[in-house]
Amino acid sequence: MVAPIRVAVTGAAGQIGYASIFRIASGEVFGPNQPVILHLVEVPPVLKALDGVHMELDDCAFPTLAGVVKADSDHLEDGFRDCNWVLCVGSIPRKAGMERGDLIRVNGPIFTSTGRAIAAAAAPDVRVVVVGNPCNTNCLIAMKNAPGVPSNRFYAMTMLDQNRAASQLAQKAGVPVGAVSNVGIWGNHSATQYPDFYHAKINGRPATEVITDHAWLQGDFISTVQKRGAAVIAARGASSAASAANALLDTVKGIIRPTPAGSCFSAAVCSDGSYGIEAGLITGFPLVSDGQQVSIVQGQTHTAFAQSKIDITINELREERECVKDLLG
Ligand code: NAI
Repeated sequence: MVAPIRVAVTGAAGQIGYASIFRIASGEVFGPNQPVILHLVEVPPVLKALDGVHMELDDCAFPTLAGVVKADSDHLEDGFRDCNWVLCVGSIPRKAGMERGDLIRVNGPIFTSTGRAIAAAAAPDVRVVVVGNPCNTNCLIAMKNAPGVPSNRFYAMTMLDQNRAASQLAQKAGVPVGAVSNVGIWGNHSATQYPDFYHAKINGRPATEVITDHAWLQGDFISTVQKRGAAVIAARGASSAASAANALLDTVKGIIRPTPAGSCFSAAVCSDGSYGIEAGLITGFPLVSDGQQVSIVQGQTHTAFAQSKIDITINELREERECVKDLLG
């Protein structure tokens, strides 16, 4: 009998949480033979709604769902006890008139207690994926408040940006999205991110050979990916949810499954100084996994154009860190 793994999802009754947990429970991520115990965490006023979500999970009768634990955000250690994965979705979304700096100060404190509870209660092999925005800096706060948990267990989600970029490249080239690979997202999950088309491939060929409209690659392609979240809000009247949940699951799959040869997946991890990026910053990099360990793709070279984009987004990460320096443990 395979021992169950425990997966905590904060903000489990919110848009992204709700769109994620049924797919995790179904066996899609960890496989049909791996039982999963879901730990659903919400703020106290939302616990009643969480009871309804729990009923729906029961009503799906997923053979892979081995149990459900519910906890409130005032008792995070109960929520994270023995968890192998902590998926940090719960946070306050940006409201009209709120500046990015305001959001950092509102959500930052959530991640100090998150980090402490992970260190105190989670399983020794815990891996943490932060979705709640600003996700790079929230991830940095959680990591700094989780002494004893290795820094290479912390990820912030840039997979939605990767998927958006791949989709744009495929549409421009007139190919199925499955033909696009090796799209790395550098820096911050924000409007300064750099989606790297220079190393992207389409049917195994450099995207820059297949797409000859380089003005589009350097201009509209980048800005479309950078501003896609705002475009979805403008059209849908609500922020990306199903696509964000899908990207969260893709992130976990990217970590636990070997990366196909010659490709990469995107997440922000603690910089080890690769590419001259300050060590310790939670930075989007192209990554590869061997199914156990994740590492930053080495040896890529960047044009002056690409480097200037990377510099902008790294500077923004430094500014965000400055904003929360009192929360860094
Ligand atoms: P939502 O408002 O629908 O759900 C958030 C949930 O978190 C709510 O149910 C709320 O009660 C809960 N929550 C708030 N504070 C909490 C706490 N301290 N502990 C546990 N739960 C808490 O928001 P949605 O759409 O699900 O988005 C969640 C976050 O994901 C937002 O910060 C959003 O900006 C971010 N996001 C990140 C993306 C990425 O690519 N990294 C993409 C899309 C959204």
